[in-house]
Amino acid sequence: MIRTFLMFLIAGLTISSCSRPSANDSAGGEMDSFISDLMDEMTIEEKIGQLNLITPGGGIPTGEAVSTNVEASIKEGKVGGIFGVTSPEKVRKAQTLAVEGSRLKIPLLFGSDVIHGYKTTFPIPLGLSFSWDMNLIEKTARVAAVEATADGLNWTFSPMVDVSRDPRWGRVAETAGEDPFLGSEIAKAMIQGYQMDDLTANTTMLATVKHFALYGAPEAGRDYNTVDMSRLRMFNEYFPPFKAAVHAGVGSVMSSFNDVDGIPATGNKWLLTEVLRNKWGFDGFVVSDYTSVNEMIAHGMGDLQAVSALALKAGLDMDMVGEGFLTTLRKSLDEGIVTDEDIDNACRRILEAKYKLGLFDNSFLYVNEALPAREILTEATRAVSRDAAARSMVLLKNNDQILPLKSEGTVALVGPLANDKNNMLGTWAVSGDPQTSVPVLEGMRNVAGNSVNIRYAKGANISDDAEFAEKVNVFGPRIVIDDRDPADLLSEAVKVAAGADVIVAVVGEASEMSGESASRSEISLPESQKLLVKELDATGKPLVLVIMSGRPLTIDEELALADAIIFTGHPGVEAGNAIADVVFGNYNPSGKLTMTFPRNVGQIPVYYSHRATGRPNPGDEFQKFRSNYLDVENSPLFPFGYGLSYTEFEYSEITLDKSSMTSEDSLTASITVTNTGDYAGEEVVQLYIHDQVRSITPPVKELKGFKKIMLESGESKTVEFVITEKELSFYNYDIDFVSEPGGFEVFIGTNSDELQTASFELIE
Ligand code: BGC
Repeated sequence: MIRTFLMFLIAGLTISSCSRPSANDSAGGEMDSFISDLMDEMTIEEKIGQLNLITPGGGIPTGEAVSTNVEASIKEGKVGGIFGVTSPEKVRKAQTLAVEGSRLKIPLLFGSDVIHGYKTTFPIPLGLSFSWDMNLIEKTARVAAVEATADGLNWTFSPMVDVSRDPRWGRVAETAGEDPFLGSEIAKAMIQGYQMDDLTANTTMLATVKHFALYGAPEAGRDYNTVDMSRLRMFNEYFPPFKAAVHAGVGSVMSSFNDVDGIPATGNKWLLTEVLRNKWGFDGFVVSDYTSVNEMIAHGMGDLQAVSALALKAGLDMDMVGEGFLTTLRKSLDEGIVTDEDIDNACRRILEAKYKLGLFDNSFLYVNEALPAREILTEATRAVSRDAAARSMVLLKNNDQILPLKSEGTVALVGPLANDKNNMLGTWAVSGDPQTSVPVLEGMRNVAGNSVNIRYAKGANISDDAEFAEKVNVFGPRIVIDDRDPADLLSEAVKVAAGADVIVAVVGEASEMSGESASRSEISLPESQKLLVKELDATGKPLVLVIMSGRPLTIDEELALADAIIFTGHPGVEAGNAIADVVFGNYNPSGKLTMTFPRNVGQIPVYYSHRATGRPNPGDEFQKFRSNYLDVENSPLFPFGYGLSYTEFEYSEITLDKSSMTSEDSLTASITVTNTGDYAGEEVVQLYIHDQVRSITPPVKELKGFKKIMLESGESKTVEFVITEKELSFYNYDIDFVSEPGGFEVFIGTNSDELQTASFELIE
């Protein structure tokens, strides 16, 4: 697309109308010369100013610093972007300061953490990943972009694609789970939803893939902790979603807080330049995480001047909030520690992003006071959220087909999350208003109408521990400890339960029990809720647990007690309606776990694609001198990919169209899936591959494909997967992406543990 841009006046310099390529075209010559002309006019201070990202604190300040003197700084050309400022009115005001008040009139970027929706909050990202539905995930990102741009934003700090195998780490809530292949697919879908194919459209925004890199592997699951990992594991398991995001054209990358092979990511040249730019060809800009430049001082990398220079020279372009660049780069330049070229490179990349967004054409492209009322949190966007939430729920157990509930009789709806608005949105929902969310009680009444008598009792506090509650309640009341005695809450719930036909207990984590800086060393239900579940079970009534949480929990005791369990993540603004849709069977659950559920914390990390040992124990019986535990099985509570349906699916054997292939051709694996149950339903058919002999130890299996299919009761469908050399390749010891001839096993099935098998050879 060729566009014409307006007369652009720069003090003394006039760049007159001309045409230039669209945002998503590869950096064209016209963009280059436009930016070169502009940079010729810039002082070194103005260039450094472009590298400065500030926040006046309108979002969630996750560090100690919040920017001050915002207005003056913008006018002085000391600001490249701003975050935490939303609404057309406020954005117009700030942008006006930049384009009318500053010497060179360079527009600002307006960023925000639009993580799982904007004001229409969708399920937490971990929950969305349970849907395995790329169209749906793209749609949620699209809705988020339409809403956020209507509110003046042009840059989101999403998607987060950190692979994580440690549910103690609270930020697993924001991830796509443990698998690099699935994570890559989700990264692509989200970037497409945010950026589409034309960044200059006023409903598209720049995406940021984060946190580069290895942030999901902190030692002991403690947030911000050190990471130590082999390069083999980085390239094969932790980098793929980032690489996929780069290839999908993501506009920016955020560096992570942790160190990578001894050097903090924010100052790691190998990571930010050699891998990201030279190996993968990334041509956008890199932004630090919140004060992560300054935090390199605490990492032990020197004083503010030293760490700022380290970051710039490593390939970091924009400094979030800490102002290390702003306050020290001039001095480093004078002292010869950094060069003009280092500063120019970073400045150019920021200006390119602004150019690609169309901001030099129209700095107020994203500012339209009429849009918020029309686009934000509408009936239509709520409908998308409700659908997404229902599709994200995972049925973990359903004895005697107790679910779906019939629309009759009396339901005891109990639990601390059963009539709660404060926790439905989940973590990192900075723009969502908890008060707009639908509690489960309301949703159950909406869906069941008058045909079901729903009786509610709170039953327990999320936690009885006031000190714990205080730590969780930093962004508002998430754990509200009832004035009534816990024993009274419990006995009231037991009474309600005893008079009902079935109990639905909504239990789990408050939203801020997971998320940033919310690591837990025990990941069970809090004691108050464990007790509630036991007492409810003791009534002898059928017990359905609806478990909400931002991470996998250790729920072996509850699993034994409950008749049915639905795991919902934190479902978003339509939580109550979506849960009721699933409970009453308006939607037949199809979600599949994307993180393994451990039996206990001691098993962590436990994930499906581990490498084999020399002394494996494939079974669950303890064997001396085998790799296992004295006190717990090796198998997890629920494997990756697990999730039941109200119907049953039967898998045929796998058919391969040939028994061998070369690296030049391909092979097709097919399987027939039949819905043998009574309900129509969707199934995620999963393909895993195991390389039998390799020059580096291969994982026991790796996800290499999946298809979500819909089957009417009695219907069969044949699903085909085409296997090419790519699916058989890996990074070898020299970090070359190769395949090696030999035997392979193919697995297809309903989860990473229940699979059909076939095998073939890759021949030279
Ligand atoms: C988080 C980022 C987030 C940033 C800005 C940091 O603490 O790690 O994910 O984008 O704050 O809010």
